[in-house]
Order: sequence, then C-alpha cells, then structure tokens
Amino acid sequence: MANKIGRNDPCWCGSGKKYKKCHEEFDDRIAIYRSEGHIVPDHSIIKTPEQIEGIRESCKINIAVLDYVAENIREGMTTQEIDDLVSQKTAELGGIPAPLNYEGYPKSVCTSINEVVCHGIPSDKVVLKDGDIINVDVSTIYKGYFSDSSRMFCIGNVSPEKKKLVEVVKECVELGLEKVKPWTFLGDMGQAVNDHAKANGYSVVREIGGHGVGLEFHEDPWVSYVSKAGEEMLLVPGMIFTIEPMVNMGTHRVYVDKEDNWTIYTADKKPSAQWEIMVLVTEDGHEVLAY
Ligand code: MF3
Ligand code: CO
Repeated sequence: MANKIGRNDPCWCGSGKKYKKCHEEFDDRIAIYRSEGHIVPDHSIIKTPEQIEGIRESCKINIAVLDYVAENIREGMTTQEIDDLVSQKTAELGGIPAPLNYEGYPKSVCTSINEVVCHGIPSDKVVLKDGDIINVDVSTIYKGYFSDSSRMFCIGNVSPEKKKLVEVVKECVELGLEKVKPWTFLGDMGQAVNDHAKANGYSVVREIGGHGVGLEFHEDPWVSYVSKAGEEMLLVPGMIFTIEPMVNMGTHRVYVDKEDNWTIYTADKKPSAQWEIMVLVTEDGHEVLAY
C-alpha cells in the first residue's frame, strides 16, 4: 500500500473528497499496525459504499436461493436435483451461479454429504438418504458482484451425534462472528471457532479456509479457523470475508478424490459439517451479508 497520494488529491476510495478529509487518518492508523509487524489489508480489498451496495444485492439472491433449497430439500432427492433447484432459482432472480466452470468445476453448487468435507459435486447417482447430513454451498454473481454462503440440512432421522456436530459448527460460526470488529485481528475470530470445536471434541480442517469475497469469488485474505488471537490480518471497515469452518467429528486430516480432483473427504471417513456466512466489517462491528 504505497502512500504516494497527496493530501489534497482525491481519496483512493473514490468518494471524490480530498485525501486529507477522507482516508488519510485511516491509512495512518493502518501504517502503525504494519510497522508493528502485523499483516494489514491492501486498499484493493476495502470496499466502497457503492461496491458494498452491489455485493449486498448479490447476497440477497444467494440467501433466497438457499431459502428455496431449504423449502425443497428432501429424502429421496438426488444432489443433481439440488443443482437444478439452484440453477433455476438463481437464473429466475437474475444471477449466475459462481461455481459453474470456476476453475473447471462442472456444476452450479457444491453438495457435501456426511464424510464429504466440501466441494461435493452434484450427481444424479447420489440420493439423499434418511440420516444424512448435507452442506449446500451456494455462490452467486450478480451485476459482477460475488456472494457465497452455505447451510447444513439434516435429512430424516439424523443420529444425535451428527445433529450435535451440525449444531456445534453453527455455534462456532456465531462465536467467531462475535469477534469481528474493526481494529482487531482475523485470528481473534479463528481462535474462537477453533476453541469451541475443540471444547466439543471436534477438529477443524486446516488446509481449506475462508476468503475475502465481493469483487471476485476468492480474494485476500485467506481465512484460517485454526489461527490464534492477535494474529493474521488486521480487520478494518469495508473488508468482506467468509466465516466457513469445516469441522470434523474425528481427525482434522482430509484428502481429495483422485478421480474428480474436487471432492474433499475426511481421512477417517467420519462426518464433517460446515456453515458459511459472509461478513462485512463496519465502523463499529460487523454486518452479516449472507447466510
Ligand atoms: N463455495 C466455495 C467456497 O466457499 C467454493 C467452491 S469452488 C467450486 O469457497 F468451484 F467448487 F465451486
Ligand atoms: Co466460501
């Protein structure tokens, strides 16, 4: 973040105001953290009010698509039918499913059942069975703005052990969210997530994390949920990122499917659960944009 801008020049944020009357103090504050050795955000990931408004609209579609999945998901349905629900509803609302063709991904949504940690590919051969837990991960592009969130669904009679996993991961996200405020660190959130998972005897996936989002599908920062308070990137108003921990009942270790190169499984085949929300850092705390 080179600070070559003159005090009377227009601010980098596009407000049209002079730099000295806009983000100069903000940049000075960030510079202190940088000089102390902290990781600090680049201007490119700090969203303007106009961008936030566009991202919010994209998020509304993402939420509506997940609501539609929630109304229609049922035992006996194939994961391809979930993909159909997502692509139809997204199109109806004027959006584009972000996963489709993303780095070669073949479908419009990720459907991850039981021991599948994430990136499960919808298929007409995979049928939802009584007792399954499934994560449906929806991402939308609307007028060039990206949104991303996911929810868990319990199909029929789910065992108390799996139900608890699903509930605890939701709590992990809520506890992490409580830590999100400006001039604190991403690791404050990450540690809150990890502590709660560990306190319940679970483990958090290390290799796959969350991400900045909004102008691109995946932006900086990369977001860990096994991080430590006071570490990782400084949070400042205008940053948007996901809280999306993958929490396993057994080992944290995972592996990727050798055939499709996408599907991630737990190494011990024990269940895994994930919820994903999209959060904006505001002047005095946070706002949940998508869930
Ligand atoms: N939605 C996932 C996330 O939370 C990304 C999926 S990439 C895809 O980051 F290509 F598999 F869709
Ligand atoms: Co995500």
